Amino acid sequence: MSIIAVGSAKASPGATSLSVGLGLSWEWTTGRRAVLVEADGDGGVLAARFGLASVPSLVELSGTARHELTMARLQASCQLLAGQLPTLVAPGCGETTTLVLASLAKRLTDGFGRLDDIDAVVDVGRIRPHSPAAELIEHCDLLVLVTRPCFDQLVPLVHQARRTISHDIPTTLVCVGDRPYSPTEMAKACQLDLLGVMAYERRIAQALGRGLPPHQRHRRLLMWRTLTELVHRIQFRVQAAPAGREAA
Ligand SMILES: Nc1ncnc2c1ncn2[C@@H]1O[C@H](COP(=O)(O)OP(=O)(O)OP(=O)(O)O)[C@@H](O)[C@H]1O
Ligand SMILES: [Mg+2]
Repeated sequence: MSIIAVGSAKASPGATSLSVGLGLSWEWTTGRRAVLVEADGDGGVLAARFGLASVPSLVELSGTARHELTMARLQASCQLLAGQLPTLVAPGCGETTTLVLASLAKRLTDGFGRLDDIDAVVDVGRIRPHSPAAELIEHCDLLVLVTRPCFDQLVPLVHQARRTISHDIPTTLVCVGDRPYSPTEMAKACQLDLLGVMAYERRIAQALGRGLPPHQRHRRLLMWRTLTELVHRIQFRVQAAPAGREAA
């Protein structure tokens, strides 16, 4: 299993929305199943935003702590987002989520390592030095940092990128929108490669909430084309990575 962590340095740039979009596009693009994990220490929003129940969640999975993480246990704690994407939601309360992740993050990381035929897109929220999702971030196959291309997000992004690069975490950048700064300039300033640019779609939550369109022609809409292309690029980087990481 690959672990794709999606997070930000600051200011709600769209990390959760991108995580959902990548998760929904994953199987169609790669042919592999995906699970979306909400590991945001500030608390979850997926249940509220996408009309899911508050139970089961990370809390129920943490209740099985004495047992190995199996696909059956993982699935039993997941809900289907948009009727399509198995999703492990976080409780809305940040303190509870932080507490649960303190023990669950390592178990998830180890467990995902053993599950071969499914990939995890993990929304790790804002990345801080002692993030409760640190274990998942440090052992991910790729960290996707999300930013808007604007000046007030640039400085925190540069510092965040420096930290992840110094910890040898394979990191890439996605810009949401392409104004006022050029995404290429943002990537250059923080010495990351630019994975791509996610279009600024005003009604993104509603569009994602309807799930991946069943008809091929509707998947040609810009948002789904962008997400598909991002998934392709992520898969390419992950497949190209192991030799490079070992050699580093
Ligand atoms: N591509 C996009 N185009 C337009 N609006 C977006 C896009 N992505 C996210 N948004 C909007 O921006 C707001 C924040 O999005 P989201 O929750 O995905 O950000 P986040 O980075 O996860 O925030 P937080 O740091 O608070 O977890 C939401 O209202 C969402 O609908
Ligand atoms: Mg979020």
